[in-house]
Amino acid sequence: MFQSDLFKDKIVLVTGGGSGIGYTIAEKYLALGATVYIASRNAEKIEKAVAELSAIGDVRSAIADIREPEQIQALADHIKADAGRLDILVNNAGGQFPSAAENISFNGFRAVVNNNLIGTFYVTQVMAKTFFIPQKEGNIVNIIANIFRGFPGMAHTGAARAGVDNLTKSLAVEWVRYNIRVNAIAPGIIRSSGLDTYPPAIVKDIESGIPNKRMGTTEEVAWPVLFLSSPMSSYISGETLYVDAGNRLWGDQWKM
Ligand SMILES: NC(=O)c1ccc[n+]([C@@H]2O[C@H](COP(=O)([O-])OP(=O)(O)OC[C@H]3O[C@@H](n4cnc5c(N)ncnc54)[C@H](OP(=O)(O)O)[C@@H]3O)[C@@H](O)[C@H]2O)c1
Repeated sequence: MFQSDLFKDKIVLVTGGGSGIGYTIAEKYLALGATVYIASRNAEKIEKAVAELSAIGDVRSAIADIREPEQIQALADHIKADAGRLDILVNNAGGQFPSAAENISFNGFRAVVNNNLIGTFYVTQVMAKTFFIPQKEGNIVNIIANIFRGFPGMAHTGAARAGVDNLTKSLAVEWVRYNIRVNAIAPGIIRSSGLDTYPPAIVKDIESGIPNKRMGTTEEVAWPVLFLSSPMSSYISGETLYVDAGNRLWGDQWKM
């Protein structure tokens, strides 16, 4: 479906690109010719991923915490000095933990919203102002989650991801004048490193509630991300594409 040079000469930033879904997204962009920066907090994780992904293409490491605006600006300045431009931003970094809403501490709620919503806005605005707005060209794909029926069992991330879902729509309209497209992917339950921190019994239970009785793969999330950032989707903006095998429509939600 995709030409092998589809992203040739494109510069891509994947936050959280050192593991799981972000790693596979980076892998696919590299295979199709892009130069890819993968950024997160853990330098050891990023360097290991860069060492592995270098076999596929031009991958570069960046250490940054999306919750820290100064670190994000430093990351943008580094990409500008190193590559001169940025074409595609994939906001994939994030995390949460299962908990009944009444047991989430205020600090825990704040931490998840700070990371998944506010951190995403920091990265988006900094990259837009440094690159996409002056370039009059850019493409943003936000990774959110299945929030179609709320997010019982993880109310904090449901609220944060709903914020990013809405931000996707607002920015798609506000930034059309800069030729920036903004879309989101809402993965269902994906067999990925992000699930390692969840109690195994909860993960096993949730799989049986998916309509097709299996979790998605990281590849099944990555390909739609590439599609939304490619010329093949040039008339799509402000959209959230659910990649969940219909789980939003039918099936069990996370148990606490
Ligand atoms: N797996 C699923 O079923 C699923 C479903 C829906 C949505 N998602 C979302 O999809 C994304 C990827 O998930 P995954 O399963 O691949 O999990 P993962 O392996 O834990 O990936 C999350 C990545 O985000 C980075 N990160 C977290 N907080 C950060 C911060 N403050 N600053 C910079 N980087 C940060 C982590 O790296 P460092 O620790 O090095 O910072 C990590 O590489 C996450 O946002 C996740 O919540 C996953």
